[in-house]
Amino acid sequence: MADKKQSAPEKVEKTSISRRNFLKGVGTGTVAAAVAPTVLIGAENAAEAQTGEAITSATIQLDINAKMYQVEVEPRTTLLTVLRDSSDTSGNRVDLTGAKLICDRGECGGCTVTVDNKPVYACMMLAIDAQGKQITTVEGLAEGDTLHPVQEAFIQHDAMMCGFCTPGFIVSAASLLRENQKPTLEEIKMGLSGNTCRCGTYPFIFDAVETAARKM
Ligand code: FES
Ligand code: FES
Repeated sequence: MADKKQSAPEKVEKTSISRRNFLKGVGTGTVAAAVAPTVLIGAENAAEAQTGEAITSATIQLDINAKMYQVEVEPRTTLLTVLRDSSDTSGNRVDLTGAKLICDRGECGGCTVTVDNKPVYACMMLAIDAQGKQITTVEGLAEGDTLHPVQEAFIQHDAMMCGFCTPGFIVSAASLLRENQKPTLEEIKMGLSGNTCRCGTYPFIFDAVETAARKM
């Protein structure tokens, strides 16, 4: 991971926008029309308030797979939307489509990524809340051409059918094994309980995680 950091493109200039200020800014136009703006929204937004101009987007930086991305987001933009469906401010697609949009409501785990090494449903996290954190997607698990042991084990055990759930399971399993290198079967089941496979490949998935654990 450290090597990747060193070879990553030069980091963009750091700016930080708090969720509080960003969300506050969204309502600026409405508030300005109704009440004294500087009292309610603060001096920093007074200029926008006086012109009635609402802040509807902001440019933020996200550290994804040890590479900095500068993206423009709306308050409602999820981390998953940035990964799958956004371009950076230079017009280059982020194009990290490993995390899948399936339920879009925090139930299936198909969109699982890690944020500061903790598994997170990317469909349930606002992009602005991911600022300043290390985001890792399934694309960031391999080291160059060397797959992560969990990825190797999924191939070895043919632990997929349609494959839609697979990236989420792999990210969750890698996260589990980072915390617990010798999990029991029950611990594996518990660790992956936030992920759902509609094709019912669970026995193969659990076997794959046990195999990966032995190799790590
Ligand atoms: S798509 Fe995010 S949990 Fe299902
Ligand atoms: S392999 Fe199809 S949903 Fe899991």
